[in-house]
Order: sequence, then structure tokens, then C-alpha cells
Amino acid sequence: MTDNRDFTRRHFLTAATAVTGGVGLVAVAVPFVASFAPSARAYALGAPVEVDISKVEPGAMIKVVWRGRVIMIVHRTDDMLTRLATIEDELADPASLESEQPQFATNPQRSLKPEILVVEGVCTHLGCVPIARFEVGPADLGSDWPGGFFCPCHGSKFDLAGRIYSGFPAPTNLRVPPHSFVTENIVLIGADIGAT
Ligand code: FES
Repeated sequence: MTDNRDFTRRHFLTAATAVTGGVGLVAVAVPFVASFAPSARAYALGAPVEVDISKVEPGAMIKVVWRGRVIMIVHRTDDMLTRLATIEDELADPASLESEQPQFATNPQRSLKPEILVVEGVCTHLGCVPIARFEVGPADLGSDWPGGFFCPCHGSKFDLAGRIYSGFPAPTNLRVPPHSFVTENIVLIGADIGAT
């Protein structure tokens, strides 16, 4: 039992510190993990997970694990939000009509707060973990790339709200998990609005 708990905690910490994209992320990850890591039992049961996002800088992303799934939390800048509106013609489901998310996330930002995106890091094609590619116009993604997520397995591209571009294998937008804000900077993953 002890071994399993140790393994589960090690697994959780490994996933939680797998932070990519943005700036200053390593500095964010360490206190973050220490402050919210749930018990092994809560983790195993898939209980809601509280995440302190107070140290996630604008433009940065952290990852946590809930119910065995990677959850990506992005603090979007005003510029990132502005870019969302410029590419809707290129998206397969810009209004998220065919995609999975709580009702509150059917807006263009797919979020409760415009600046905070909470989305599953699970490609809707075959389940790979998309990579954060927030930079604008990198050589490998093209000069018109406005930032978003790129799936390394079969090349699906998602925007900064997890919406899939047309013509790629992933059939729908990245899923938004149920979540809510307990306080200004504490997100509860796994519990929808009204639940605590
Ligand atoms: S698993 Fe992402 S494109 Fe295939």
C-alpha cells in the first residue's frame, strides 16, 4: 500500500511539474506543487483538485493531473485573447457546438474568466498530449501561426482556446473539464459552478 501511494505521488509530481510553454514556468511549478498536491486517496478517486494559480504569470501555462488526465491551465494575455478572434474562419468548430465543455465554456474564449483557460491536454484524435506553442510565427508552424497547441502525433493544430483548426485529424476541440473558482486564484478542477 505504501509503495502504491509513493508511486502515485511520484507519478503525480512528475506530471504536475511537466510544465511547458510561456516564461518563468519552473519557478511557478515548485511552490505550486507543494501547495496543492491532493492526497493519494483523493487522487485515486478522481476527487476535485484545487489549484493555486496565483503565481502563473500572463503568457504562462501549468499542468496538473485530474482523473489521470493532464489538465492545462493557461494565463492568457490580452494579446493572446485578441488573436482568438482573428482566426475563427480557419476553425472546424469555432462556437464549440460539436465539442465537450461545460455550458459556461461555450463562449469564444471557452472559459469562465477570459484570461484563464482550463483545458484537457488530451488530443481528441487519438489521445496524445498537445504541445504548447504560444509563440507567434515560428518557422516550423508558419509565419501566420498565432499561437496555440500542436499535437506531435499527427499534426493537429488547436488555437489558444483549444479549438481545432479545419483539415486536421482531431475531430473536435480539446475538452474543457468541469471546474470553478473557489477564490480569485484557486481553481477547483472537477467541480462545476456551484459545486464545492
Ligand atoms: S493524436 Fe493528436 S493528431 Fe492524432
